[in-house]
Amino acid sequence: MSEVKFFSGENIPLEMHKVRMVQRVYLREIEERAKAINEAGYNTFLLRNKDIFLDMLTDSGVNAMSENQYASMLQADDSYAGSETYYRLENVLQDMFGMKHFLPAHQGRACEHIISRLLVKPESTAIMNYHFTTTKAHISALGGIVEEIIIDEGLEINSNLPFKGNLDINKLKASIARLGKENICFVRIEAGTNLVGGQPVSMQNMREVSRICREEGLTLVYDASLLSDNLYFIKTRDPDFKDTDIRDITREIGSMMDIIYFSARKLGAARGGGIMTSDNEMFLKMREMIPLYEGFLTYGGMSVREMEAMAIGLQESMDMDIISQTPIFVEVLCKELLEKGVPVVTPPGGLGCHVDARQFCAHLPQEQYPAGALAAAFYLASGVRGMERGTLSEQRNPDGSETLAHMELLRLAFPKRVFTLSQVKYVADRLTWLYQNRNLIGGLTFEEEPRVLRFFFGRLKPIGNWPEQLLKKFREDFGDSL
Ligand code: F0G
Repeated sequence: MSEVKFFSGENIPLEMHKVRMVQRVYLREIEERAKAINEAGYNTFLLRNKDIFLDMLTDSGVNAMSENQYASMLQADDSYAGSETYYRLENVLQDMFGMKHFLPAHQGRACEHIISRLLVKPESTAIMNYHFTTTKAHISALGGIVEEIIIDEGLEINSNLPFKGNLDINKLKASIARLGKENICFVRIEAGTNLVGGQPVSMQNMREVSRICREEGLTLVYDASLLSDNLYFIKTRDPDFKDTDIRDITREIGSMMDIIYFSARKLGAARGGGIMTSDNEMFLKMREMIPLYEGFLTYGGMSVREMEAMAIGLQESMDMDIISQTPIFVEVLCKELLEKGVPVVTPPGGLGCHVDARQFCAHLPQEQYPAGALAAAFYLASGVRGMERGTLSEQRNPDGSETLAHMELLRLAFPKRVFTLSQVKYVADRLTWLYQNRNLIGGLTFEEEPRVLRFFFGRLKPIGNWPEQLLKKFREDFGDSL
């Protein structure tokens, strides 16, 4: 069984791969970055890649693929119906989760659309550890309600708890008693809880939730998009599973769930999505929707080349040397930042390093989007693009008031096996500088605010001329340097 590898026990991770193809990136002058972020309406989603040095927006669809993944693309079987590629992918997934049926969809949110159409009735409640933006948007669009029952520590920035993504069993029981099971459309567990710092869920917790759902006859849905990170944490943080084969852990997870879905832009390091179930009735109902919303059943809106790459990527995700790369890089960055006093979510999660914008920009009220302002300021200071995960990522209440997020985070995601240690050091260095000059960061206000998923296309403007002040200080401290 392979162990996670650190060099001489120091805080230096060992990459268990070598780089054989590279992409040129550019670090623009800060004046150019100021222009770019201004043109992007201070929304990092609207920046152009040519203006970005390190893209830490997301780990979705931007992971480094292996040589075997690329090689597999050559055997992709391009047929509208009955593609051999589909059957290869189906076999891999059936084996991985031990579930009977596989339905392809073009990405994670497409799976959420199909599952929500199957299960959500107006006024019904979906209970989950925590929502993801697209999950909630699909449930809300069908008149459903989301209820979050993550353990209280899950919403605290700092903790020693190894599994902060766990569902609170008492809250689950209380919700079932209060709502009545007929009003609950499904229970959802999100692996590696995205919006609260990529925090994992323990096997013990999943077992308990699954038992309760089976007793109550509730459908249990598992979002496996961040499964790789969660598997790594189960193996490294839960002594009971230290010696258990990763395949056996995955199969046990499969045996506990009624439906599993995933974004293959994350899990499997390609681009696409999929739904698994062993329930014949639910399978047949969802199958009807695939040709309507996605594409014919044997491709589901995906390119067959991506499906081949996904089949290999999924098998590779059963290898600790491969799946450990993101969490150990996240840990290294978090440790380095903590040493400099920069507030980050602990314990370090998967997916990325999460900077606590509430503490970082303690002078900014949540209505001025501290995490969004920090994301814009950090791009200005470094050319690194992170993502706001806070109040901007929420939707307004029907009366127009803000839904203030539980956490205001700047997420610095790690695309899998993409960045080097020196680049990580650069991130830590610039973020530390920004922290020392944090009082220069001002708030943001909307100029154009979309009604749904506003963080994608919304345009904002700074309150005051703080970007100019920050640029001036940068030039004072760094001179002509980039
Ligand atoms: N569920 C989780 C936990 C996710 O992280 C994502 C995507 C989705 C569902 C939706 O999948 O993008 O393929 O439609 N997360 C990306 C991110 C967008 O940047 O965190 P998708």
